[in-house]
Amino acid sequence: MIDSDPVATYSWLADRLNDYNLAYFHVMRSDFLQEQSGDVMTPIRSIYKGVLIGNMGYSAEEAEGAIANKSLDAIAFGVPFLANPDLPDRFAKKAELNTADPSKFYSPGPEGYTDYPTLAA
Ligand SMILES: Cc1cc2nc3c(=O)[nH]c(=O)nc-3n(C[C@H](O)[C@H](O)[C@H](O)COP(=O)(O)O)c2cc1C
Repeated sequence: MIDSDPVATYSWLADRLNDYNLAYFHVMRSDFLQEQSGDVMTPIRSIYKGVLIGNMGYSAEEAEGAIANKSLDAIAFGVPFLANPDLPDRFAKKAELNTADPSKFYSPGPEGYTDYPTLAA
């Protein structure tokens, strides 16, 4: 999600999407390489009237804060879920998280996808 003027672009998009009865609007707040600058979530929240899901680099604590202060309705987790098949359980127990190995991202086969241990393992 790299754009020359992300706040203007996504503010426009959020406004347009209000015309549709969407189940939710899911937004990556930045890109993987942190090349995107600009806070798109604040303007989107103020413009978009439906359910807003945030994503990209959220911790459990930041996610809880965002839901508590109503800046988001839900948060989606990608990499933390990849490395922690029992992520909700770990969040609930405030347990330590496995760290994902980026060298295994987008690799063929199960390695790096289904071989991270659960707490019970
Ligand atoms: C290995 C890998 C594969 C991904 N595949 C997809 C995909 O197929 N479609 C998609 O929309 N996002 C994909 N993503 C992006 C994630 O859904 C998510 O947007 C991203 O990891 C940022 O969220 P996070 O900081 O919680 O990880 C992928 C991410 C990783 C690390």
